[in-house]
Amino acid sequence: MPQSLFQRTLVLLKPDAIQRGLMGTIISRFESAGLKTVGMKLVWVDKEFSKKHYSAHVDKKFYIGLEEFITSGPVLAMAIEGIHAVDVVRKLVGPTEPKEATPGTIRGDFAHHSYDYADKKNIAIKNLIHASGNKEDAEKEIALWFDEKEMHTYKTVHEMHVF
Ligand code: CDP
Ligand code: MG
Repeated sequence: MPQSLFQRTLVLLKPDAIQRGLMGTIISRFESAGLKTVGMKLVWVDKEFSKKHYSAHVDKKFYIGLEEFITSGPVLAMAIEGIHAVDVVRKLVGPTEPKEATPGTIRGDFAHHSYDYADKKNIAIKNLIHASGNKEDAEKEIALWFDEKEMHTYKTVHEMHVF
């Protein structure tokens, strides 16, 4: 298989997903699509780490609320592997604003927050999940969140039936 099409991407289940007890339900979406979890850990990040992860957003108006949100409790970090994993995971996750996310996507099925509401309250959009936006970001983000020794190579039935 062309190696560039076989990708890894970073997923974070944000504090709202953990506190609402949606971890298992959300992880199932990725497992059901035949994607493979190659790294996973529960982490409570601080402001400094948030600035590294969201370096593209630190100067934006919504960053203050975003930092408050992402540091408000533990997040579940996952490295997920599969064919076109970056795009496929974004498709399963849905667009940033849950109000606009269609049913069937994780954000559309389990959240309904809007930009208007979040902006009026000066808080981040509560949208349950982060997924890397492109292959370059995915590589950088996985290196930020995981050590080499926390990443695992193993065989699944997908080797025969999905890959
Ligand atoms: O997470 P995603 O890649 O879909 O969106 P982003 O544009 O990279 O923004 C990162 C996160 O910041 C979002 O998931 C929201 O939680 C938050 N955000 C916000 O609260 N208000 C905005 N106007 C834009 C983003
Ligand atoms: Mg993004």
